Amino acid sequence: MIWLTIRVLPYYTKTSARTKEGADFVNTKQKLADLLENSKGEYLSGSLLAEKLGVTRAAVWKNIRQLKADGYKIEAVTNRGYRLRREQDAVSEAGIRKALGEQADVFTLEMYDVITSTNTVMKERAESLPEWTVIISGSQTAGRGRIGRSFYSPSDSGIYLSVLLRPALPASESTRITTAAAVAACRAIESCTTARPSIKWVNDVFVNGKKVCGILTEGSLNMETGGLDWAVMGIGLDVYEPDGGYPEEIREIVGSIAQQREKNLRNTLAASFLRQFYSICSSLEEADFAEEYKKRSFLIGEDILVLKGDAVLPARAVDIDKECRLLVQYEDGSREALSTGEVSVRPKKRDVQ
Ligand code: BTN
Repeated sequence: MIWLTIRVLPYYTKTSARTKEGADFVNTKQKLADLLENSKGEYLSGSLLAEKLGVTRAAVWKNIRQLKADGYKIEAVTNRGYRLRREQDAVSEAGIRKALGEQADVFTLEMYDVITSTNTVMKERAESLPEWTVIISGSQTAGRGRIGRSFYSPSDSGIYLSVLLRPALPASESTRITTAAAVAACRAIESCTTARPSIKWVNDVFVNGKKVCGILTEGSLNMETGGLDWAVMGIGLDVYEPDGGYPEEIREIVGSIAQQREKNLRNTLAASFLRQFYSICSSLEEADFAEEYKKRSFLIGEDILVLKGDAVLPARAVDIDKECRLLVQYEDGSREALSTGEVSVRPKKRDVQ
């Protein structure tokens, strides 16, 4: 009995205490890790963390030390607090080159952290640069979309690039460059992520009902031949939602390709897009990809609005032909094949009970 008391009781007491303390510690540490993980990339102050966890700031600090020892990349900054470092996914020339592999030699890459607009800069230098020059930027201060719109291009979230081409195409068929880019973007998104992209005629790629990619092709017409001296295909891919979310005015329309940051995703996506685009452009005249463009398009059969200058015309999207033109039927029964333009999907009418 005495033997048991001496051997068992202290052992029991000690183990029990250690287990309880240990459990609390693990619990606090885990909860702290969860809090940091849920706000990855953002600073959380020591006092906020202490309040949320119901412990002292000293205990927060002790647990932070433990998490660091466990391998968490936590940064501590005076007056700001603690943050879990975000998964790195910087766009870099070396990263894109590596992902391009043997095809890296095809392209002349020019990389910027920030630029006004990759299309604008490429256009200014188009006469002197070689075909397949690619200007890539981490952000744009004056990103441009179609019809004079601006294109929101924040840092650390998207890919903004322009490719210089000298296509053997009549200017009247230059829309093919845009449609080829849309197919290439879908293939790249599919091969690098789990997202399921589809095309909204003529130049947008959507994922889960939101626009994740826009394409703007511009060119210089050769009046003598009716062909193009050069064309600049610019594409913006919204890979991640920017810090603080999208601006209010585009929040309902724009989305992102990936929900979580992933190491090297933007380089891999950019390289995959370039490879696919290059491959499609090698037979651009044959428009082999038109069938794929049609299959990937979600407008066919939809009630749409065709925007023509100031006019907004209700119509139905009937088909996409071999030239990637959108065949529409207006309400008076007349049909038109649109080779470029702007359409929007009409909201479906609800059944009235
Ligand atoms: C659109 O959605 O209307 C087209 C958007 C095109 C955006 C890209 S981002 C790279 C290139 N540079 C620009 O200024 N615009 C294109």
